Amino acid sequence: MTLLWFYGLLLGVCLYMPSSETKSHPVQMFHYDYSRIQETEQAWKCWKEGYRPSPVTSDKIHESGNGTAAGIQRILNFNQSNTVLFLYSSNSDNLNLNTTYTIEPNRLVRLMLDNAGLERLELAFNGPENDCRLAELSVPRNRLRNLSPSIDRLTTLRKLDFSYNLLEEFNLDRLVNSAGSLKQLLLSHNRLESFRSTVRIEFASLHKLDLSNNRLRTLDSTYWTMPQLETFHIDYNRHLASIEGWKRTRFPLVKGFDPTGTNNWNQTWLKSVQ
Ligand SMILES: *[C@@H]1O[C@H](CO)[C@@H](O)[C@H](O)[C@H]1NC(C)=O
Ligand SMILES: *[C@@H]1O[C@H](CO)[C@@H](O)[C@H](O)[C@H]1NC(C)=O
Ligand SMILES: *[C@@H]1O[C@H](CO)[C@@H](O)[C@H](O)[C@H]1NC(C)=O
Ligand SMILES: *[C@@H]1O[C@H](CO)[C@@H](O)[C@H](O)[C@H]1NC(C)=O
Repeated sequence: MTLLWFYGLLLGVCLYMPSSETKSHPVQMFHYDYSRIQETEQAWKCWKEGYRPSPVTSDKIHESGNGTAAGIQRILNFNQSNTVLFLYSSNSDNLNLNTTYTIEPNRLVRLMLDNAGLERLELAFNGPENDCRLAELSVPRNRLRNLSPSIDRLTTLRKLDFSYNLLEEFNLDRLVNSAGSLKQLLLSHNRLESFRSTVRIEFASLHKLDLSNNRLRTLDSTYWTMPQLETFHIDYNRHLASIEGWKRTRFPLVKGFDPTGTNNWNQTWLKSVQ
């Protein structure tokens, strides 16, 4: 009896040891907050202005809490087949969180992954079909280094937000298929050294372009056709002295540049474009 008790105690101690071990090295938890709308009625194909999920056929889920890295990745791996909206944000320091996300074609209408520890964002396009649903792709405050190669398959984008990531270059040509619908292109707080375009594409609806807080030394607007551009942020590119091809008549709605601003403006050039 005493012996049994003793072994029991020993076993207890042995079982207890590892758990006290994990207590002294706690698993890191990350905050999450997300909303998700599932719509079972999926007969419609493409997103159109004014689309709202029908309350009869849709379900809204909202959850917040703290999860392990694996738990966060599980949340991001939700079933996209009847999801039309997924808005995720976090207020944690997510430097130790490393997640990936793959967008499936013609499912989501709005996707926001804000501060989700994203290092990879992919678009799962195998066939020839383009996406005609995704109107918002917002992935601010992550650690993305490049755009997915299939980004040109998105044809109804209205808002593309990659601010606070690690992009070093951006080729505007890649947005050729969403040029008609794109209203906002937000790329501030990256490491952009190059923002290029090699063909003349008309961005007929673009009204906001944010390239501030990057590392641009040169910028050529010669090929930009953005008649609706109204808000243009370019401050905090400390070595930028001028913008090639910029003329007031080409961007009539832009109010001009701050002469005492945070760029290295060539004042002669600046006076000629204000
Ligand atoms: C998550 O953890 C933070 C501290 O890290 C805490 O302040 C917060 O209340 C937690 N949130 C939930 C929903 O448990
Ligand atoms: C996702 O949901 C759809 C529709 O409800 C279902 O048919 C499919 O099996 C689900 N996929 C997975 C991987 O659970
Ligand atoms: C994050 O994970 C990817 C693979 O999913 C890996 O390639 C990358 O190196 C990881 N980053 C860090 C900082 O560990
Ligand atoms: C500043 O701009 C003017 C007018 O565009 C140009 O002639 C001049 O060479 C520029 N100065 C420098 C230092 O680049």
